[in-house]
Amino acid sequence: MKKFSQRHLLGIKEITTDDIELVFETADNFKAIINRPIKKVPSLRDITVANIFFENSTRTRISFELAQKRLSADIVNFSASSSSVSKGETLIDTVNNILAMKVDMVVMRHPAPGACVFLSQHIGANIINAGDGTHEHPTQALLDAFSIREKLGSVRGKKVAIVGDITHSRVALSNIYALKKLGAEVMVCGPTTLMPKYISSLGVKVEHDLMKALNWCDVANMLRIQLERQDIKYFPSLREYSMLYGLNKERLDKLDKEIVIMHPGPINRGVEITSDVADSKHSIILNQVENGVAVRMAVMFLLAGQG
Ligand code: NCD
Repeated sequence: MKKFSQRHLLGIKEITTDDIELVFETADNFKAIINRPIKKVPSLRDITVANIFFENSTRTRISFELAQKRLSADIVNFSASSSSVSKGETLIDTVNNILAMKVDMVVMRHPAPGACVFLSQHIGANIINAGDGTHEHPTQALLDAFSIREKLGSVRGKKVAIVGDITHSRVALSNIYALKKLGAEVMVCGPTTLMPKYISSLGVKVEHDLMKALNWCDVANMLRIQLERQDIKYFPSLREYSMLYGLNKERLDKLDKEIVIMHPGPINRGVEITSDVADSKHSIILNQVENGVAVRMAVMFLLAGQG
């Protein structure tokens, strides 16, 4: 049986193309299972997983929890606001205390980039990064690429435009790594102020004109402006941002082809995407959410299978 090359899923940068393909093949099986009347399998029975969330989350936390339940894992949930972290405990002490209760796997979301890497150097459990600040969000990128593969047959050779707040979005960086490893062409599009200076060194095209990006791409992944991570103003107003970079029906109608629309959620309707586009037949936003459960099942199954 093929095995995942890493003990942890810290970022897409660290994993191989074979790892990604293995996640997809495994997720194909799990997707078939969760569409059956009996959705539960015993694959993670006797495995205890701690979901440790130091940052808000709806979709990702529920998706991981559902994936764990479908795999029959035991689950403990922890969120920073209701914990001893607010009493001044360090990250390692918090996690070591949880591990002392015999936890095998940790799913962590944390505002500090690299928090999961740090943890992986200090504790024995398998660690899955559920988003570390502005850095990576590997399971989101895996489910995004899986959704493109499902919709268009494959990722190789497809043109994907990632639009919006490239600087502060962990979804952008993980998507760039995943799509490049799978042989897609990637373009990032947004205002100069939301574009990191090093970005072209990752082998992506850079475009500041949304219509040019839309005309070029097969898939547009619309990102949310990460206002909570912006300590200064990067553009005059949300209204101006959406005038220049918001995806609406008029812009889509001007294209001479159909493109696939994606969004990692949560959507700010009327800012990066209008409701008619988000809810249109071009959008695979809810397929992404559905695929998230199967992809996370695959990741946890593969990591647990390493002994
Ligand atoms: C993303 C995140 O948290 O990075 N959301 C998610 O995981 N569903 C994207 C975002 O918050 O904009």
